[in-house]
Amino acid sequence: MDNLFLPRVARIAAVRDETPDTKTFDLVLRQGGEPRDFTFSPGQFMELSVFGVGEAPFCFASSPTRTECIQTTVRRTGVLTDAMHTLAAGDEVGVRGPCGNGFDVAAATAKDLLFIGGGIGLPPLRGLIWNVLDERDRFGKVTILYGARTPTDLVYKDELEEWARRGDVEIHVTVDRGETGWTGNVGMVPVLFDRTELKPATTLAYVCGPPIMIKFVVQELLMRGFSPDSVISTLERMMQCGVGKCNHCCIGHRYVCRDGPVFTYRQIREMTE
Ligand SMILES: Cc1cc2nc3c(=O)[nH]c(=O)nc-3n(C[C@H](O)[C@H](O)[C@H](O)COP(=O)(O)OP(=O)(O)OC[C@H]3O[C@@H](n4cnc5c(N)ncnc54)[C@H](O)[C@@H]3O)c2cc1C
Ligand code: FES
Repeated sequence: MDNLFLPRVARIAAVRDETPDTKTFDLVLRQGGEPRDFTFSPGQFMELSVFGVGEAPFCFASSPTRTECIQTTVRRTGVLTDAMHTLAAGDEVGVRGPCGNGFDVAAATAKDLLFIGGGIGLPPLRGLIWNVLDERDRFGKVTILYGARTPTDLVYKDELEEWARRGDVEIHVTVDRGETGWTGNVGMVPVLFDRTELKPATTLAYVCGPPIMIKFVVQELLMRGFSPDSVISTLERMMQCGVGKCNHCCIGHRYVCRDGPVFTYRQIREMTE
């Protein structure tokens, strides 16, 4: 049996700046064979370690349909992420996982899919979005609503443009505050609801972002007729082991690391009531 606590070594193949405090890392696993030997589901996460500094959970920002590397997008917030941001192509990190449950991609087959992301909440959705786009015929209408504080804070700017150019995705982007040259929407994410036609009965809504954004977006979705079972989100909790052994991430009788981090809004309501 694999040792859940033993990290594999991964080489950083590339690092890209997304925003002034956020970078995306392409990781190639060095041990355990080719990257394609490492399988995961969108929505799962890895425990990523910088040797001699520490370890923390980070979601997969890439799709399992792309096997050349795994990607994660990291915002600088403390000791470990500061250290991550000093690393460059050729450096090595540790990777444990995949951890957690992930999004149920099979259950999304034939459904319309609505992705709603705020700020650094887009990375966990990006893995699922690319999975869906790489198997586009399996799914109904795909709509992406994304917001950030300012245009500078938008992650994956090239991909937002690429998705907008595709004929098979509807995408709307907004920022809380515009900057010189910004001609797009201004306002919080819920302003985008009026830009699109929603069919709650046949749509699954995936919502990731800061808790305050999730609160208002979920309220809006429920008001517009979505069932709590059709609204799917990810929870973040302080974690240590990442594999259901240490009790750090418990909410009620659930381990966010093992039973989540993906939950329906109905489950989240039951856990937090
Ligand atoms: C399942 C999961 C997936 C994650 N995916 C990503 C990701 O893809 N990209 C990314 O940038 N970050 C992600 N995070 C958050 C990341 O793991 C933490 O920010 C991590 O602690 C950073 O380590 P640090 O040493 O740099 O900061 P620390 O020194 O540990 O913390 C900096 C600040 O963030 C707070 N904090 C730490 N962890 C959390 C948490 N889980 N929830 C709320 N506040 C927290 C601390 O209280 C402190 O104020 C994820 C967290 C979880 C649980
Ligand atoms: S982080 Fe240890 S039980 Fe979840």
